[in-house]
Amino acid sequence: MSQKSKYYTRTAQWLHWLMAIIFIVAYIIGFYSGNFLSYETDGSFKGDVITLHKNIASVMIFLVIIRIFWRYTHPAPTLPDSMSPSMKKMAHLGHLGLYFMLLALPITGCLFSWSAGHPVPVLYLFEIPKLVQDNPDLTAIVKPLHIYIAWAAGLLLIGHIAAALKHHFIDKDNVLRSMTRQHD
Ligand code: HEM
Repeated sequence: MSQKSKYYTRTAQWLHWLMAIIFIVAYIIGFYSGNFLSYETDGSFKGDVITLHKNIASVMIFLVIIRIFWRYTHPAPTLPDSMSPSMKKMAHLGHLGLYFMLLALPITGCLFSWSAGHPVPVLYLFEIPKLVQDNPDLTAIVKPLHIYIAWAAGLLLIGHIAAALKHHFIDKDNVLRSMTRQHD
């Protein structure tokens, strides 16, 4: 018998939902700027929108470090016995993929900004010290990387939400509740 709790800890739950909100807000703003605004027609407004994207998204760097530490020191609840071994494997791979996105998006975003000669501001309070110098060759690599990873992350997120809803409404198991409650 596993001694694990059926629920994520309160801290894990807060980190999950806080990061979910920041991720989605940052995503919408980045997507809007990248696909609907141009410097030619929207001028400094595009710059302001990108600055907003950075100020919100950069918080993820700090949160993801805390989250990974917390995940290693506080094991996740076991998945329901009704899931087949291959579904459990899929779930673990999906979660690994999401962690990869949570790390890769802020990292490529920061490298993109720095290498293009711009700062990385955090919540309009301070800037993360610049770790790379202006470097157009690096920008040419990390800019498309940031965009491709963002698209892949969007798809993975849709799959993640669909899986959570399926567990809750079709399988009627405890998976979604494990991220929202502490008791039955
Ligand atoms: C969880 C974190 C992040 C998410 C979900 C995210 C998401 C996105 C998305 C969806 C786009 C639009 C891609 C496209 O053109 O289709 C984008 C663009 C961009 N992101 Fe991020 N991003 C994140 C972090 C960052 C960070 C930390 C920075 C820099 C500090 C950054 C800088 C940029 C820049 C400069 C663009 C280009 C915007 C434009 O060309 O108008 N991103 N991001």
